[in-house]
Amino acid sequence: MTAILRGHDVGTVTEAKQANRLIVAIDGPAGVGKSTAAKSLAARLGYLYLDTGALYRATAWAVLGSGLDPADAAAVAALLPGLSIEMPVQHGVVTVLLNGRDVTGNLRAPEVSAAASVVSAIPAVRAWLLPVQQKIGQGGAVVAEGRDMGTKVFPSADVKFFLEADPNIRAQRRHRELVTAGHSGALEDTSADMASRDSRDRSRSIAPLVPAEDARHIDTSNLSAAEVVDQMLAVIAAKL
Ligand code: DC
Repeated sequence: MTAILRGHDVGTVTEAKQANRLIVAIDGPAGVGKSTAAKSLAARLGYLYLDTGALYRATAWAVLGSGLDPADAAAVAALLPGLSIEMPVQHGVVTVLLNGRDVTGNLRAPEVSAAASVVSAIPAVRAWLLPVQQKIGQGGAVVAEGRDMGTKVFPSADVKFFLEADPNIRAQRRHRELVTAGHSGALEDTSADMASRDSRDRSRSIAPLVPAEDARHIDTSNLSAAEVVDQMLAVIAAKL
């Protein structure tokens, strides 16, 4: 069971702060624009972009590929020792290798989204992925995006954001994204999938989606991606 991210120096959190290599944590539900903002912010700062959802999605992909029920916690936990997830970074682009195979292009399908949400509620999965994420981020200079960045994975992150948006706008954004990626399906289905994923992510007993107490909230409903990033940069500038 290994999970490796190459191409990123790893130091201690203290060293990272001294050199202004900040840890920026971004959390929020699906469709709020986390990935777009996190990617763009990382590029602007010259930081690593850490997409933690991709780790849960790759795990879900492995579970589905093995013919297991994502809700079968014991079977999923038994699968983990045979899994290897690597996230090599080249020119700022993260790819996900599952047992050596590039699965990056397969991770956004609706069935993988749903299964990722289900496996992410399994304590063994979270326990496996927690140190992986922390190891990637411990050198700082990272923009980490997920559901529990500010609460569990990087509780002492230098800057924390929690993004929110109107559920209808979130569903429209996600639907457009899926259509662009070649998936079919009605907006209503995307909306329903998103609502059930949200409620699962928010209500699970382990590391639920909740804002960190010290997170800055940004409502992205009426903001462009560039405006979100500008707001974030204004906050970060004070820490650099
Ligand atoms: O961010 P995303 O849509 O790629 O995440 C897919 C699922 O993975 C999401 O429904 C919940 C889970 N997840 C999580 O539990 N914790 C994270 N830090 C990131 C994702």
